[in-house]
Amino acid sequence: MSITDEEEQARAGRPVRTPRARSVLMCPPEHFDVVYRINPWMNPGLPTDTPLAMRQWEELHRLYVALGFDVQLIEPLAGLPDMVYAANGGFVVGNLAYGASFAYPERQPEGPAYRDWLRTAGFEVAAPREVNEGEGDFLLVGETILAGTGFRSSDASHRELAEVFGREVLTLRLVDPSFYHLDTALAVLDDAPGREHIAYLPRAFDADSRALLAERYPDAILVDGDDAAVLGLNAYSDGYHVVIASRAVGFARQLRDHGYEPIGVDLSELLLGGGGVKCCTLELRR
Ligand code: ARG
Repeated sequence: MSITDEEEQARAGRPVRTPRARSVLMCPPEHFDVVYRINPWMNPGLPTDTPLAMRQWEELHRLYVALGFDVQLIEPLAGLPDMVYAANGGFVVGNLAYGASFAYPERQPEGPAYRDWLRTAGFEVAAPREVNEGEGDFLLVGETILAGTGFRSSDASHRELAEVFGREVLTLRLVDPSFYHLDTALAVLDDAPGREHIAYLPRAFDADSRALLAERYPDAILVDGDDAAVLGLNAYSDGYHVVIASRAVGFARQLRDHGYEPIGVDLSELLLGGGGVKCCTLELRR
């Protein structure tokens, strides 16, 4: 007798997860390099291998296409070695995009480049007054926007974000310089309203933020320091498939236990710039 996947999952006591194909923006790492240091992962003294970064990134791109995602590309600009981290280029919900305004001068020209792309693609773009690094620090879960601050996006940008989208914004304060963007310390596994599910590294947040996360997401997956240290939380989920760093083996096990299908990819070159899977991915929500 054959049983369906759903029945099998239910028998194993695992929740049934439902994927939703995504539309995302990516930027090929043609000009990737580490020539300055704006986070503790970056060491300009170490060599980088741009062709290898390209091949690893292409693997991620192929995977997204295989998952049925609509993948859009922005032209990489010479002189902007961090442009591959597309998540920082803005934050998009319901055809409206809040543009990025980067904290460090080295990345500031990326702001207008991404805003132009979004405008040309038909999004309404709100120009930012405040310093913010887009989906690096802002994550949509259900109807709520989780917003990180402490290293990059300012508190004032959280207020601007709430104004632009007219949604609830929960401020979360990051305290560990290695986890300088929210998407390095917290992953959204299911963003569907009513089924909200996240994973995070508690010690990346201050005490108030930890209390807030525990209260709002009592069933969250708490991730181990070892998995976070390979940027395992810098993951991208379609609600069922969760694309993660292949070295985050403990997190992969936790994901399976919660009914997800983890898919590991190796972005070791891009880790030299302090980024992983999610950093390379900006979700385009029409
Ligand atoms: N080198 C980049 C920076 O420090 C990495 C950005 C990673 N992006 C992200 N969404 N966490 O700005």
